[in-house]
Amino acid sequence: MSRPTTASPSLEVAERRSRALAAAVEAHPRAHRVLTGDRPTGPLHVGHLFGTLLNRVRLQDLGAEVFVLVADYQVLTDREAPADLASDVLGQVADYLAVGIDPGRATIFAHSQVGGLNELLVAFLSVVSVAEVGRNPTVKDELAAAGGGAMSALMFAYPVHQAADILFCHANVVPVGKDQLPHLELARTVARRFNDRYSPTQPYFPEPEGLLSTAPLLLGVDGQKMSKSRRNAIAISASEDETTALVRSARTDAERHVSYEPERRPEVANLVLLAAMCLDEAPGQVAEAVGPGGAEALKATLTDALNDRLRPIRRRRQALAADPGYLREVLARGNEHAGEIAERTLRQVRELMHMVY
Ligand code: TRP
Repeated sequence: MSRPTTASPSLEVAERRSRALAAAVEAHPRAHRVLTGDRPTGPLHVGHLFGTLLNRVRLQDLGAEVFVLVADYQVLTDREAPADLASDVLGQVADYLAVGIDPGRATIFAHSQVGGLNELLVAFLSVVSVAEVGRNPTVKDELAAAGGGAMSALMFAYPVHQAADILFCHANVVPVGKDQLPHLELARTVARRFNDRYSPTQPYFPEPEGLLSTAPLLLGVDGQKMSKSRRNAIAISASEDETTALVRSARTDAERHVSYEPERRPEVANLVLLAAMCLDEAPGQVAEAVGPGGAEALKATLTDALNDRLRPIRRRRQALAADPGYLREVLARGNEHAGEIAERTLRQVRELMHMVY
């Protein structure tokens, strides 16, 4: 029986594959090219830090080649280009550098600045069907939210564009959250289709693999999904006073004694977990230490843990933010490097597609 090529594999399969991939990267870091990125919609927060940023630094330090993408075109999928996009982009670069992404070893670039990458999208659009893209859960949700109406064609093409983000540099490792797995599956389909059609004897594109975050999911201080727009997230760049105020506003529950019971007491457990991650301790241990002190003691512990953990990062970030010329230079160098790679790929793609005249 042939497997439908667009079916997203079950989470269990993805998790198993991700564990094997993590071991392979660990064993042969230099055989791996890692690409991941973020939409520049505002300051990155502690969810990003523990969920993905520190892992990127780890992969870089292991010796893997790391590409970090500022996905600025993706901001346009659900809004107009905001007037402050440039400052969000530079702010994101500052966040990356402050947490330890090293521009001497990693490539930080914005996909709007890499023409070859975007041209690859045209070739890729030709190997997937409208129905196939329409089955992508993000596209489907957006279409439903737009009532079948005002979804932009760029939003529709979003997962195919993301395939270009990944394949332009032949990345084979893509650190992502679970929500991105269907996009990755489409990138794999694009790679496979392109290879079957234009390079059948020797596959040209690798089929990229998802490296799933093993960090537990952090919620915002209100117990909801951590998000920039909900104002429930502690930004890496927030001041100590802002951090203190956000933690003070955090939701807890009516029980006095602090415990770590994620199912029964999700809000309290989330605050305990966040403190534990900052302190590099087990959540149970943190809960026990706070115990009878109640919500007030928990918040005091969390505030100190966050501010202590983030202090050196924030110090670096402040120095970086004061030097936008340097941030622009880092980005320009990354754009140039990504641009060279994209041009080479595009040249080879045109050759394979019989488009050399
Ligand atoms: N869609 C991703 C997000 O919203 C960002 C992204 C764009 C990305 N292109 C990518 C992630 C390529 C991994 C690989 O988080």
